[in-house]
Amino acid sequence: MMKSFKVPLHAPVVTEEDMKAVADAMQTGWIAPGGPYVEYFEEELKRFSGMPSVVALSSGTAALHLALKAAGVGRGDYVIVPTHTYVATVSPIMYQGASPVFIESEPETLNMSPEYLTKALETLSRKGIRPKAVIPVHIYGFPAKIKEIVSIAKRYGLVVIEDAAEALGAEYEGQPVGTFGDFGVFSFNGNKIITTSGGGALLLKNPALEPKIRFWASHAKENKPWFYHTDTGYNYQMSNILAALGWSQMQRLQEILRKKKEIYTLYNIYMQNTTCKLHILPGKFQANYWLNIAWCEGKKSAREIIKILHEEKVEARHLWFPLHLMPVFSKYMYFGNSETQEFFYRGILLPSGLNIVKETLLFIKRIF
Ligand SMILES: Cc1ncc(COP(=O)(O)O)c(C=O)c1O
Repeated sequence: MMKSFKVPLHAPVVTEEDMKAVADAMQTGWIAPGGPYVEYFEEELKRFSGMPSVVALSSGTAALHLALKAAGVGRGDYVIVPTHTYVATVSPIMYQGASPVFIESEPETLNMSPEYLTKALETLSRKGIRPKAVIPVHIYGFPAKIKEIVSIAKRYGLVVIEDAAEALGAEYEGQPVGTFGDFGVFSFNGNKIITTSGGGALLLKNPALEPKIRFWASHAKENKPWFYHTDTGYNYQMSNILAALGWSQMQRLQEILRKKKEIYTLYNIYMQNTTCKLHILPGKFQANYWLNIAWCEGKKSAREIIKILHEEKVEARHLWFPLHLMPVFSKYMYFGNSETQEFFYRGILLPSGLNIVKETLLFIKRIF
C-alpha cells in the first residue's frame, strides 16, 4: 500500500547513524532476541520516561497483551476501552478470553470521555460488574484526559494500561504519556514516530513485575540448564538488530518532535481561509503531532477529498471507524451517543511524515 503513494501517510526516515547502529549490532554477532542493544534501548526509554522498568518487546500489541496478563485479566473479566482506536488496543483483551466494554470518545482530545467512563462504571457497578482494567489510548499522538481517567479508574479499583502506541513524546501537563498508568505501552511499528520496523515497549510502574514479563516474553523458560516449563509463554522478545535501530532513533527523538511540530504549524498556516480546519488542542495537551487531522465542512466531503488526494498519489485516511459497530465486536457493551461516527465522516488524517515537503502542503491546501 505504502509504495504506491508518492506521499505516504507517515514513512519511516532512516539515517546513516541508524544504519551504522544496525551494522554494529550485526557485527557483534547478536542476531537473536535480546542482546546489548535491547538493554541500551530499554535504558534510553527509561531515561526518557522516568519509569523504573521498561521491557522492549516484538510489538505494541505484545506489550498490551503482557500488561493484561500481569493485571490478572482472564476469562470472564471486563476491560474498558475507547471505541475510537485501532483494533490492536482490543485484540489482546480477546486473546485473554475477556470482554471489552466500549466507551465513546470526546471531541476535544478524540480520546476516551471521562464522563462516559464514569457513567459506564456507575452502570456496571449497579449490575454487579467490576471491570478489571481500563486501557485509555492517546490516539494519533493526542494526549487523553489522562489524569481524570486515572483518578476515576482508581476510585473503582481498575488497573490502568495506557496505550501510548501512537504517542511517544506527547505530554499531558508536562509529563510524558505512557507514565500515568500502572502500565504504559509504546509501538515502534514502521509508521510510528520512531521505528524499529516492528516493535514495542512495556513500561511498568511496579518493577517487581519485570521478571515475570521477561519470563512470559521468552516462552516462559524456567531458569534451568535444560528446557523446562511450568507456564505457557510467548515469543515476544525484541531482537538486538531492531533494538539498535530504535536506540539510534531515540537519540534524535527531540529533533523529530521539533520537526513534527513544524509540520503541524505549517498545516495550520496553510489551512487558514480554507473550508477545512486543523485539529488543535489546548496547551496542557502537548501532542507529538504524529498525524494531523483536518475537519472538513465545505462542499467536498472527507471521502471525496481523500479520493482526490489518492488519485494524486497522496495518502490520506479516514479516522478510525467505531469499533463497537464492527461485526467482530457488536455483541459487547458500549457507553456513549455515537459521537465518533461524526469523527469518521468529517475527519481526514493528513500525511505527516518527516519528509513531507511544502509543495505537498500547498497542493493539499488547493484541494481544500
Ligand atoms: C492505538 C494503537 N494501539 C496499539 C497498536 C499496536 O502496536 P503494534 O503495531 O506495534 O503491535 C497500534 C499500532 O499499530 C496502535 O495504533
